[in-house]
Amino acid sequence: MSTNIEQIKERLNIVDVVGSYIKVEKAGSNFKACCPFHNEKTPSFFMSPDRGTFKCFGCGEGGDIFTFVEKYEGVDFKGSLKILADKAGVELIKEDPKKVNEKNRIYDVLEKSTSFFQANLLNNKEALEYLKNRGVEERIIKQFRLGFALDEWQGLYDFLKKEGYTDIEIEKAGLIKKGEKKDKFYDRFRSRIIFPLFDNSDSPVAFSGRLFETNQDKEKASSHEQAKYLNSPETVLFSKSNILYAYNFAKNVIRKLDFSILVEGQMDLLMCHQAGYTNTVASSGTSLTEGHISLLKRFSDKLVIAFDGDEAGFNSASKASKLALVSGMEVRLIKIPEGMDPADLILENKDEWKKNLKNAKHIIDFYLEKLIESIGDKRKLGKEVQEKVLPFVALVQSEIEKENFIELIANKLNISKDAIRSELEKIKIELPKDLKYTSNEMIEELLVKNESNLSGKIIERKNNIIRQLSGLYWWQKGIEAPVIDLKELEVNFIKIVGEDFFQRILDLNEKIKDEVIFEAEIFYQELGNDLIELKNDLNEKIKDLFLNLEMLLLDEKIKDILLKIKEIERLGDDEKLQEQMKKYNEYLKLKDKLNRSEVKEI
Ligand code: CTP
Ligand code: MN
Repeated sequence: MSTNIEQIKERLNIVDVVGSYIKVEKAGSNFKACCPFHNEKTPSFFMSPDRGTFKCFGCGEGGDIFTFVEKYEGVDFKGSLKILADKAGVELIKEDPKKVNEKNRIYDVLEKSTSFFQANLLNNKEALEYLKNRGVEERIIKQFRLGFALDEWQGLYDFLKKEGYTDIEIEKAGLIKKGEKKDKFYDRFRSRIIFPLFDNSDSPVAFSGRLFETNQDKEKASSHEQAKYLNSPETVLFSKSNILYAYNFAKNVIRKLDFSILVEGQMDLLMCHQAGYTNTVASSGTSLTEGHISLLKRFSDKLVIAFDGDEAGFNSASKASKLALVSGMEVRLIKIPEGMDPADLILENKDEWKKNLKNAKHIIDFYLEKLIESIGDKRKLGKEVQEKVLPFVALVQSEIEKENFIELIANKLNISKDAIRSELEKIKIELPKDLKYTSNEMIEELLVKNESNLSGKIIERKNNIIRQLSGLYWWQKGIEAPVIDLKELEVNFIKIVGEDFFQRILDLNEKIKDEVIFEAEIFYQELGNDLIELKNDLNEKIKDLFLNLEMLLLDEKIKDILLKIKEIERLGDDEKLQEQMKKYNEYLKLKDKLNRSEVKEI
């Protein structure tokens, strides 16, 4: 593929590619635009035609033409290659034909199966009637390529064999299972309404099948205790933690409206899209993962959740919200009446759905109000808020927003803000594994991968600061007459992050180095040509960066030691406690000192 990629890069430059999607303007030898990946009114998205790269200083997104198209169109690398090859008039030569072929065959199997199920549905009055009764219109059946698996053991299998696919291919596509008698295959989906799940390029990669129950065999079905929904297993094309139902249809609308709606069920999803809420996606029965969150975050930081109006729905909404809050998303909830799901509400009372969506409340407001409404006793209320609401507040990533919630709770409960803060301190935040981090190795990993989807604001800030410092360092080191004292910079670096880590900055690979230099250049090109002024500005800036970094690292140490102290208290080891308390006090003193040096937040 490398020849294809090179050819495309030769023919298309970053400014033209980006310019075909959004408005760009010249900025010195570079170009700038309002970033399409986050909301902004003044441009902080820069392109360098020389390097063929882009970088947004607001949200941190960056990369080359392929990354841009991947992010903008929401496709994977292969998808972006296709799109750009088309634009460049480059014909893609299929290299490594064996692998590509294997995957393509499985795509084909799934595509053929989808058509097969679709045809079954159109020829089956009962199944069509069922969907109609559930309120699904024909256009939706078509768009979502809904289908039907007949009540037979090898209908699909026989069809695919006739089409020339092997047992292995059909099995790899997740469509058949081996029976008790070895070597005899039978269809995984039987007598079910079929919902194909699509990848970002609209190709079916898996199926979810809903039990099909006509009235007379409702009893029969339930006595067999079959699962209401049955999904494809994980395959080379399908990983459930990275696919959201209808994301392919919703992604551009999410960008446009700047929020997404998340529902749980397929039916909920179809009803939302049918009613015009086409920025809706569904988790389809699996619990929400970080993969899902980062798909949504690509297009908007705002998420509205509409889950079933029962306890189960409430609980999964809580779980999903926690993950989204930690990723820095703003999460609101749509009120669904007790005993209903979003599909029911839209079908029965579209106006109420519309009203509830409009009035969707931030999850914290939602819970708080719910508790205040239902609990009269003040002491009990306080306890419930502490248990049920504060854990959410603790996850809010924006300090300003967090402060607002603290104030709100203080007012509503008539207690002091300090009391709430100290309760918050005690909450141990169970972050998903890759958001937790203390070691320098992690900084390096983040720095090297530059993965902005590993959010968590602290990590982002730290990552950002280290990138800026490395950029300044490499930029200045690369010019003939550096205006800053490189030796001093090295010494400070080592003092704060340690020798090992600094060594890693020295060993950065060329691509990353190039990127961070570009960032520094862009950042400081505004500073003009007055050398003395530039020197002062840079030194000032470096001082701020180091102070901020020190502060962040210290905050982290303090958090860690508090956890340790809690644990030691529990165990009752007085000696150790004294030791840790001493350390803790030292850190606090240090922090005080840093605070007095008036750190400008970066
Ligand atoms: N689900 C699943 N496996 C099950 C039950 C549910 O994968 N055994 C998933 C499906 O994606 C389903 C979603 O969880 O759409 C929500 O479940 P539920 O509310 O029980 O289903 P509904 O969508 O309400 O189903 P229907 O309206 O078709 O009865
Ligand atoms: Mn439901």
